[in-house]
This record gives sequence, C-alpha cells and structure tokens, in this order.
Amino acid sequence: MSVTVLVGSQWGDEGKGKVVDILSEHYDVVVRYQGGANAGHTIKIGEKQFIFHLIPSGILHDNVTCVIGNGVVVDTKALLDEIDFLKKNGYEIEGRLLISQNAHLIMPYHKLLDSISESGENKIGTTGRGIGPCYIDKYARKGIKIIDLLDKEELAKKIKRNLEEKNNLLKNVYHREELDVDKIIEEYSAFDEAIDPYITDVPNYLNRAIEEGKSILMEGAQGALLDVDHGTYPYVTSSNPTSGGACTGTGIPPTKITDVFGIVKAYTTRVGLGPFPTELLDETGEKLRTIGAEYGATTGRPRRCGWSDAFLLKYSATINGISKVAITKLDVLSHFDEIKVCVGYELNGKKLNTFPATAGILEKVKPIYETLPGWQQDITKAKSYDELPTETKDYLKFISQQAGFELGIISVGPRRRETIILDNL
Ligand code: GDP
Ligand code: IMO
Ligand code: MG
Repeated sequence: MSVTVLVGSQWGDEGKGKVVDILSEHYDVVVRYQGGANAGHTIKIGEKQFIFHLIPSGILHDNVTCVIGNGVVVDTKALLDEIDFLKKNGYEIEGRLLISQNAHLIMPYHKLLDSISESGENKIGTTGRGIGPCYIDKYARKGIKIIDLLDKEELAKKIKRNLEEKNNLLKNVYHREELDVDKIIEEYSAFDEAIDPYITDVPNYLNRAIEEGKSILMEGAQGALLDVDHGTYPYVTSSNPTSGGACTGTGIPPTKITDVFGIVKAYTTRVGLGPFPTELLDETGEKLRTIGAEYGATTGRPRRCGWSDAFLLKYSATINGISKVAITKLDVLSHFDEIKVCVGYELNGKKLNTFPATAGILEKVKPIYETLPGWQQDITKAKSYDELPTETKDYLKFISQQAGFELGIISVGPRRRETIILDNL
C-alpha cells in the first residue's frame, strides 16, 4: 500500500501526465488535488496523443479510479467535454470518475475577470482559465461548489448574489457590459444531471480506500515554483502544487502519505511571465524549444527555455520532501555538444546560500554554471540505465548529486515505451 504524491519540480510541464500514466499501472486510485483546466497533461501511446486538463492522467487504465479532489477548481463545460472525448474514444468511465462535492466551480465571470486583469499592467501571463478569480471567491467565502449544482434554488441564489457584485465591478470599475444573470443560471442549472453521477464524499472514499490497503497516486498540476506560497510570487498560480497541497486538496491526512515523487525536466521551461535565471534568449534556447516541442499543452504558447537549474531543484526537493525523481525529456539533450547545469546563484558578486525568497531578487541573480560534455547520440531506444552513454550517466549523476535527489525513472521520449524504470523503484 502506498500513498504517493507526484509533483512538478519546476514551473510546470515537466511531463507529469506521461509519468502518472506509467505509474498508474501500480495504483488503484489517481487523484488531482489542486489547479484546474490551466493544466495540460500529455500522454502519448504510439502515435495517439491525449491531453488532460481536469481528468486525472490515470484514466487510460481501466482498473484505475480517478478522483477530482476538493482543492481543484472545476470548469464544468471543460470537464464534460473531456468526459465526452474519452467516451468517444472507447473509454468506459462510469464508476471510475469521482468528483468532490466540495470542489469549487469556475464561473463565466471568473474567466472574464481573469482576462480583464491580464489586459492591465500587472499581467502574470495566466492561462486565462479563470483560476485566480475562482480561488479569490473560494477564499472570500463566496464560491459556488459542485454540490450546489444539485440544488437549483440555492444555485440560482448564489449566482445572483455573486453577479450583483461582479456586474457592479464590470460596469462601474471596468466599464464593460454586464453579464446576463438569467442566462448563467439557465446554463448552470442544466449541469445537474450530467455531473450528479460523479459527485462523491471524497475524503470518506479515499480514507476508506487507504484502510482497505489500496494504493493512491496524487497527481499535482503545475509545479513547485508556481506555488502561491513557495513559488516566484506574484508570478505563480493561485493554488499549492507542492506536496502539502495534496492533503488539504483531498482530505488525506499527512500521516498517510508514504512518498513524494518529483518530476524533473532535464532542462528548464516556463510559460508566462516571471523570473527565470537560466533562461536562454539565444539560439540554444530556440533549439531547446524546437527539439523539445516546447509549446503549451493548454494555450499553445511558446515556452521559455533554459538550462537545468540544480540550485532551484534542491529548493524544490526540500519544500516537497521529494523521495524519488523521474527525469524527463533527457532525449532532447542528445542534440547538444555540451550541456550546462546551474549549481548556484551569485548576487552582487556574492554566492547565495539559499534560494531567494522573492521574485525581485531572483530577477537579479546570475547563475553559476558547470559545463558537462554532451553525448550526441540517440537514447530513445535505451531500455536500461546500463545502455545509456557514459556522458548521459555522468550528467544524471551530476544533477542528482547537486540537487540532492535519487532517480527512479528516466524518460527518453514522449511515448510509454520510451521509459527506463530503475531497479530501486
Ligand atoms: P505536464 O503538464 O507536466 O503533464 O507536461 P506537458 O504534457 O504539458 O508537457 C510535456 C511534453 O513533453 C508533452 O508534449 C509530452 O508528450 C512530452 N514528453 C514527456 N516526456 C518526454 C520525454 O521524455 N521526451 C520527449 N521528447 N518528450 C516528452
Ligand atoms: P501543468 O499542470 C505551466 C502558469 C501560467 C502563468 C501562471 C498563472 O500543465 O504543468 P493561471 O492560469 O494558473 O492563473 O496562470 O501559471 N501555469 C502553468 N505553466 N504548466 C501548467 O500546468 C500551468 N498552469 C498555470 O502560464 O504563468
Ligand atoms: Mg502541461
């Protein structure tokens, strides 16, 4: 029995979807605990590609039950589209998808307010999925939950109350057209039948599953450096992707967590604004983007690319309590004759001992690099660690030692079969 939290160790898009799909074979339940349809988790099986935004990436295994926890913010329409897509592709999901009654709903005004705030000066570069405004309402105790869909009267009351405030804001502050209350009530009142079969008391379900000896994998979205508390604030998302969020976002207590699996991309990417010390704004960055196909799975935006940052990874491993790591996209580095790894930061000529606490300082640091030789050969067919070139093994040893983590999986391509599982796993 294990209760594993799987987290992104950088700024998201580390390849969590692929690794969750691989690990799901050994788990009974896969749970999303935070974020919403801002996530885009890709799974490639042969030439077929799936991108999940809300449904946990374990869904392609028919023995796995997938759960959306209370910490997730749910865009009902996006969720129903994903369910439809799976059904059309022959996946049976009835009885295998459970949604917490306490998950909050993304409403049309959340998306609108997200886009308005992104058109101003204090832009973050969000995904535009209404994530920030929805979490604002949750913490302001005004949110509308999944369970509210089942009581039409209560739902209408809550929508009206919220829209009074939002329309006032839209009209008098942003000078925009007001939203149509009746239309939104009508749209959301119609979701009950489609969503009802999935609504569940999730903490009860998960804790019973643990008592029965079932194994649970908790699938983080985004990454540690996008965490609202521990990330590069304010250039973060509005939830806690770090491992601590897995407890509050599901109702599984900390004493039940057995291990934390960190997903680490072999270089670094980031979408949206914010500090990125190892970013490469030159040909090398462009080469990483092209070879790594670094375009957002949710918005299609080009991802910013740079060398691996072991100093950042060490911080990430510490705040997440990472026990094992899957390193992904190692094959992308096959095309470089030398590979740099950041091992520390310098600020005003002084080496920093700890990861900077503010985005302002992180903007100013200078990365200290070690240069390693590349291997320049195809590693996508490697089936074991021993088959990897010496330079590849040296790179893996170096980064593990600098960041202070232990490898469990090496991913050498986007497909399921392009994966090396190490003996210690
Ligand atoms: P996630 O959000 O962490 O699930 O990651 P994304 O799906 O947004 O982005 C990861 C991208 O890299 C996807 O297009 C994956 O298909 C792809 N990918 C995952 N692992 C590997 C790998 O080892 N090598 C290569 N070349 N691509 C990979
Ligand atoms: P997955 O789960 C990469 C980024 C956005 C923006 C910031 C805030 O696929 O790794 P938001 O819409 O959440 O308010 O945007 O966070 N961001 C992601 N970047 N991967 C993601 O998810 C992301 N989800 C949000 O680009 O910088
Ligand atoms: Mg992604």
